[in-house]
Amino acid sequence: MSLNRREFVILSCAVASGCAGPAENAPVSLKPVAIDAGPASDYAADGVYDRMRDRGFFIVRKGPSLTALSAICTHRKCKLSAEPDHSFYCKCHGSTFDPDGKVTEGPATRNLPPLPTSIDEHGHLVVLAIAG
Ligand code: FES
Repeated sequence: MSLNRREFVILSCAVASGCAGPAENAPVSLKPVAIDAGPASDYAADGVYDRMRDRGFFIVRKGPSLTALSAICTHRKCKLSAEPDHSFYCKCHGSTFDPDGKVTEGPATRNLPPLPTSIDEHGHLVVLAIAG
């Protein structure tokens, strides 16, 4: 994948849950990487899949929609856990997020950012995440 500087900054902001200022002033030290999450057919049933949690994201299937949500708490960056009801919980300070990534209980105030996804030529789900 080849990105020009503008695309890189926009993508970095999206993955890093937003930039504080104009895109041109965004930090560029973050490095987005394309991660193969396996065949999209592995995520056929509705629900939250946490097999990629250690890579920093959850896969969410909702009908025809297949998305990726950051698995990193927006409060102080602890790793979230997926709950049986498809919500997300942070054990560090107790923040919770609904299945769409919206904050339902603080101290976190920012929703979980969705990560850019695509399906490659082999039918695999590819997620653009930040290398950490
Ligand atoms: S790091 Fe998640 S609630 Fe503080």
